Amino acid sequence: MSSPARIGTPLSSSATKVMLLGSGELGKEVIIAFQRLGVEVIAVDRYANAPGHQVAHRAHVIDMTNPDALRQLVEQEQPHYIVPEIEAIATQALLEIEHTGKAIVIPTARATWLTMNREGIRRLAAEDLGLPTSPHRYADNAEQLKAACSEIGFPCVVKPVVSSSGKGQSRVDGPEQVEAAWNHAASAGLVDSGRVIVEGFIEFDYEITLLTVRALNERNEPATHFCQPIGHLQEKGDYVESWQPHPMSPVALKKAQDIAKKVTGALGGLGVFGVELFVKGDMVWFSEVSPRPHDTGMVTMISQEQNEFEMHARAILGLPVDSAMRSAGASAVIYGQVDATGIVFDGISDALRVAGADIRLFGKPESFVRRRMGVALAKAQDIDTARARARLAASKIKPVTK
Ligand SMILES: Nc1ncnc2c1ncn2[C@@H]1O[C@H](COP(=O)(O)OP(=O)(O)OP(=O)(O)O)[C@@H](O)[C@H]1O
Ligand SMILES: [Mg+2]
Repeated sequence: MSSPARIGTPLSSSATKVMLLGSGELGKEVIIAFQRLGVEVIAVDRYANAPGHQVAHRAHVIDMTNPDALRQLVEQEQPHYIVPEIEAIATQALLEIEHTGKAIVIPTARATWLTMNREGIRRLAAEDLGLPTSPHRYADNAEQLKAACSEIGFPCVVKPVVSSSGKGQSRVDGPEQVEAAWNHAASAGLVDSGRVIVEGFIEFDYEITLLTVRALNERNEPATHFCQPIGHLQEKGDYVESWQPHPMSPVALKKAQDIAKKVTGALGGLGVFGVELFVKGDMVWFSEVSPRPHDTGMVTMISQEQNEFEMHARAILGLPVDSAMRSAGASAVIYGQVDATGIVFDGISDALRVAGADIRLFGKPESFVRRRMGVALAKAQDIDTARARARLAASKIKPVTK
């Protein structure tokens, strides 16, 4: 972290090389940001023609949970930076690679390992750092879960320790629902399906993502930058709308920033983090953190001078970032609405005629009814108008089979 940032020429022996592990819609934007800086980018995903594959110098398809496959590809490509975009990665291999000093893992291999597992990040946040979180217990079987749920009380939330996008998650309102919650979690856990966390249900007024950036300052030391809070709406474990800035009391905002600074400082490294927080009045609870850009942060593509993907790319390269806003803004998800490959989007002109609106289509080869295929963005004087515009623009887009 000491030498000033330099960037070489792509596809030459001086190239600065970045490997994205996961090349979905978020990775695609990170890649575009790197491309603009003349960085050579290698995009990796589990399926061919993923969004990020389409904008990178080279594309690979591997099972990223397979440590041998991951090691071999890193050996072959020799990237300077490895940038995980998803949680389900063989993080043990990343720890080894980082240890050899052959590549820098963003933000650190330990951070990717800790945040892949809800238990790892919870222990760090609640026990080591003493941050406020929901009350929680762990369970390895249905019996233990029953006991854990009654200790926490109802309602509570059951989640596989390794999962994302709400997969395997259920709200449990009484003892009779515990067994179903166990079965649901066991069927959906990603890498290690054997363990669940039970969390007390927080009756929050609203939830936010606080994008927090660790970037080098002029003395080449990591400094922390906060974006304005992003409000969001979750449905079936997925975000459907987000907006920035979400209004907060000065007390709650200060608490949110303190929590974010502590947890990102403990994870270390450079880059963007999405700190998820629940807020009720002036009370703030830490929920979880992504050591990478956050899906709800797609709104920054319209609301900030530098969006979260550009800030991530710059911070990784040791360059300065600017977290300033440009305008109040909102995002609304465009779902596939059909199960088919090679779909067509109608209504794009109508969407773009909505005042202040813009869209991104991710280019995913296969659509599912509930798959996120694009996002509508909108700016306005205030967040209510921005939200209405983004929703309207999203509703104009009609995915159809060819
Ligand atoms: N303890 C809780 N109390 C109240 N609501 C909760 C709690 N835990 C989760 N939720 C709700 O469920 C949503 C998803 O939870 P969480 O972020 O833990 O899951 P996830 O699978 O990691 O989702 P994602 O990958 O989309 O962030 C939260 O944003 C929040 O709306
Ligand atoms: Mg979450």
